[in-house]
Amino acid sequence: MCGIVGYIGDRDAYPILVKGLRRLEYRGYDSAGVALVNGSGTLSVYKTKGKVDDLENYCAEKDVSGQVGIAHTRWATHGEPSSRNAHPHYSESKNLAIIHNGIIENYADLKKKLQQKGIPFRSDTDTEVLVQFVEYVQQKKSLDLLTAVQLVLHEVIGAYAIAIVDKRTPDTIIAARKQSPLVVGIGEDEFFLGSDASPIIEYTSRVVYLEDGNIAVMKRGKELQVVNIYNTKLPHEVKTVDISLGQIEKGGYPHFMLKEIFEQPECLTNCMRGRINVEADNVTLSAVIDYKKQLLAARRVIIVACGTSWHAGLIGKQMIENLCRIPVEVEYASEFRYRNPVVGAGDVVIAISQSGETADTLAAVNLSKERGAFIYGICNAIGSSIPRATDTGSYIHVGPEIGVASTKAFTGQVTVLAMLALAIGKERGTVARAEYEKIVKELVSMPAKIEEVLTVNDRVKDLSRTFTYARNFIYLGRGYNYPVALEGALKLKEISYIHAEGYPAAEMKHGPIALIDSDMPVVVIATHNAMYEKVLNNIQEIKARKGRVIALVSKGDETICQIADECIELPDTIECLEPLIASIPLQLLAYHTAVCKGKNVDQPRNLAKSVTVE
Ligand code: AGP
Ligand code: GLU
Repeated sequence: MCGIVGYIGDRDAYPILVKGLRRLEYRGYDSAGVALVNGSGTLSVYKTKGKVDDLENYCAEKDVSGQVGIAHTRWATHGEPSSRNAHPHYSESKNLAIIHNGIIENYADLKKKLQQKGIPFRSDTDTEVLVQFVEYVQQKKSLDLLTAVQLVLHEVIGAYAIAIVDKRTPDTIIAARKQSPLVVGIGEDEFFLGSDASPIIEYTSRVVYLEDGNIAVMKRGKELQVVNIYNTKLPHEVKTVDISLGQIEKGGYPHFMLKEIFEQPECLTNCMRGRINVEADNVTLSAVIDYKKQLLAARRVIIVACGTSWHAGLIGKQMIENLCRIPVEVEYASEFRYRNPVVGAGDVVIAISQSGETADTLAAVNLSKERGAFIYGICNAIGSSIPRATDTGSYIHVGPEIGVASTKAFTGQVTVLAMLALAIGKERGTVARAEYEKIVKELVSMPAKIEEVLTVNDRVKDLSRTFTYARNFIYLGRGYNYPVALEGALKLKEISYIHAEGYPAAEMKHGPIALIDSDMPVVVIATHNAMYEKVLNNIQEIKARKGRVIALVSKGDETICQIADECIELPDTIECLEPLIASIPLQLLAYHTAVCKGKNVDQPRNLAKSVTVE
């Protein structure tokens, strides 16, 4: 998510910074900016909504001199994408400028305190709090920049990678990290800074990967110093990077899709951050607090979405019905909008969309709004059209998804739907405390469990080679895993161009069973849940017709592993969260099959990432 670049040395900083931002473009962003300190001690900030090209156009006539600078591509989390909210942010006196990746969770509290002391804010971001706070403590206690930053970081809760400059000490950049990556490049009497090494490796192969809690002090002509907030000096290892630019932009993965599949543990942690309080076993979604009345009064929920987001909606339906006892309908947005649907006051319409720009989903939102429904958005791209059109909502916060085949957005959507069902169910009193606590605990353990599932990657890779001959696939699942079967089939279709159908397992005998022969691979989600025996019977039916079964089973399931042709073992979890686990091997299966067939995984033919036309 978003990018940081910095330079201090004897060269002109601006071209290095802009080039660096371009190298980080793959991460996805909505605005860009740069701060330059020149020899005469002037600090200039230039920033704009849009792309790095827009920033360059904006800077064309500006004074971009300076041998010290920091630059940023922002992927908005707090405040819409706009020039005002773009980074760098000045402090009130304009002596300081900061860039930041991440989220400051207690920003509202800190902002209130600073405002009470008369400090005005120019943006809606959480980031501005940091720079205003640093300046405040600097002035109040006559502190140097490093000490002030250390003091402020004591008070901050959240994730950050930051870089800060002070025009009164133009020979220094200070950077710090916690849960957001930051790399320092060490040259001859110069330093480079990057969110990853891609903006750096053109100039030096010597890098220091900062660790959580590290504060790096880069002083022109001096050695790199790394300290913590207590000013204890920390050892740091200088590593040699030996990778090509092409590789590094995808974080070392050959495709964005694989990177995004592997990012899921981290993405779900980000998605739940600040929303689940582990100690208190509590889920808090600000939208549910702010719009409690409308949500609790819902006589019905209608979920509108397309593609993968629609599959997440099918899972959400079961969660909301089970935990909130509110009837839920799930609609293809494209059908709903042209159907003169019965929708109006008293209905809550949930629009799910990764991009927030899908034309049909947006039209379904506008139609429902006109008819008086209350609209809740579950989106990924901050400030996109759907969240702007809704009454409220929750972002999934999984970072930009670049691969056209959606992966991490799906698990993010399911996670938000689970939190939403828990939060509403608790308010309505329709979920027993013990059940609520069990689901909350299990949600918190999901990143670790997904990490465990990802270890099947090599096994799935081998397995995919066996099945590249197939022209058709069937995917079966029941209950919560039926939408997972649909999603697995969609993934395979999209990127490997193999025809695939997802079915509720028991429906097989009403038609698709006619397709089964010794060439037909059938992927069955057969984990140990209430439907286990039934799904086992379905597997027997397939084997009796010589179909080739790839089964996703619970760890240690010898019964199915003896019958199935291939078995992939999954860690146990509770039924409603199984989709978060079971979808991962299916993403990997689609990925490796497409790679084996030599297809363009990240940009499959005919598909677009944002479907802004109907
Ligand atoms: C998913 O792999 C697809 N590319 C597609 O089905 C996608 O989910 C659909 O177009 C909806 O997009 P959205 O979530 O951005 O609205
Ligand atoms: N939370 C910050 C903002 O919304 C930083 C976002 C980012 O990581 O780019 O401005």
